[in-house]
Amino acid sequence: MKALILGGAGFIGLHLARRLLADGHEVVIVDDFSRGRDDPDLARLAAPVVSADLTDPAAYAALPDDADHVYLLAAVVGVRNVERDPERVVRVNTLAVLNTLAWIKPHQKLFFASTSETYAGGVTRGVVPVPTAEDVPLLVEDVTAPRFAYGISKMLGEAAVVHTARAKGFPAVVGRFHNVYGSRMGADHVIPELSLRALRREDPFRVYGSDQFRAFCHVDDAVEAVVRLMAADDAAGRIVHIGNDSVETNIGELTELVLKLAGHAPELERVAAPPGSVARRCPDLGLLRELTGFEPSVPLEEGVRRTFEWYREHAS
Ligand SMILES: NC(=O)c1ccc[n+]([C@@H]2O[C@H](COP(=O)([O-])OP(=O)(O)OC[C@H]3O[C@@H](n4cnc5c(N)ncnc54)[C@H](O)[C@@H]3O)[C@@H](O)[C@H]2O)c1
Repeated sequence: MKALILGGAGFIGLHLARRLLADGHEVVIVDDFSRGRDDPDLARLAAPVVSADLTDPAAYAALPDDADHVYLLAAVVGVRNVERDPERVVRVNTLAVLNTLAWIKPHQKLFFASTSETYAGGVTRGVVPVPTAEDVPLLVEDVTAPRFAYGISKMLGEAAVVHTARAKGFPAVVGRFHNVYGSRMGADHVIPELSLRALRREDPFRVYGSDQFRAFCHVDDAVEAVVRLMAADDAAGRIVHIGNDSVETNIGELTELVLKLAGHAPELERVAAPPGSVARRCPDLGLLRELTGFEPSVPLEEGVRRTFEWYREHAS
């Protein structure tokens, strides 16, 4: 099997590439390196890397068109990017999807990376239950607020993928990732951010939104779910939640875990979470289990320990 990973130099993309190569598949990575890293981890992969901006339709001429599976992970992500430049989020995330859909061939199977942010507005408004299944209505609290630009771009992506796949007759799966974490995920997300500040011995130690609950999913589990979904014929045309529902932890407990790993006991300074951030998030994985038999396998303590150790090694 030959796989094309669009956005493959990013966090989930690199882990997915490693897994597909280990399974004996051929992999080609495509990225514009706007956020992806051209680092030794990427260089060590036995996979060619094509540098291309997927917002440019002409860039697709450089991509091989004989891949069996196409994974569309390329997007502008992260709260900081979204707050700073929502126009770019809407433009890049939308054009990358539409261009990919115009280019893809009927013999190819597509995975599109979406997000739990699509339904976050409904959780905040109390109209969507947690744990959350795929069939809840999607609600945007304020179209003009920068933070929703990301969720809106992914809603459009989901609709574009499902309808185009149906119209053109190729199989496609939409996976909504829920708080995926692990090594090499940059510094903007909560677990690396806490790890890096703990390694710097920050004191007092700021804890943002300590009473917010999340169900964190180690990237190895997320990749396992993606691989299983792409192998499941019944997953075609479906939107499926991907995450780990075995443990919900609040940011305060997560901070204590990271500080314990770091051997650091600072004074804690509790600060409100960024506005618009949901109080609780946890996926209902019933559909994922039914389609693939998936069960998360990396316990939170183990996954956070591995991630922390990676950041300790790479902090300098
Ligand atoms: N990490 C999570 O917890 C999470 C949660 C929900 C959804 N997702 C989705 O999963 C996907 C992968 O996320 P990630 O955490 O690996 O993010 P990431 O930022 O590490 O990876 C995205 C990659 O896309 C590339 N890219 C951006 N614009 C591009 C363009 N115009 N052309 C080519 N490449 C471009 C970036 O350089 C980067 O390497 C994204 O679509 C994201 O929205 C991730």
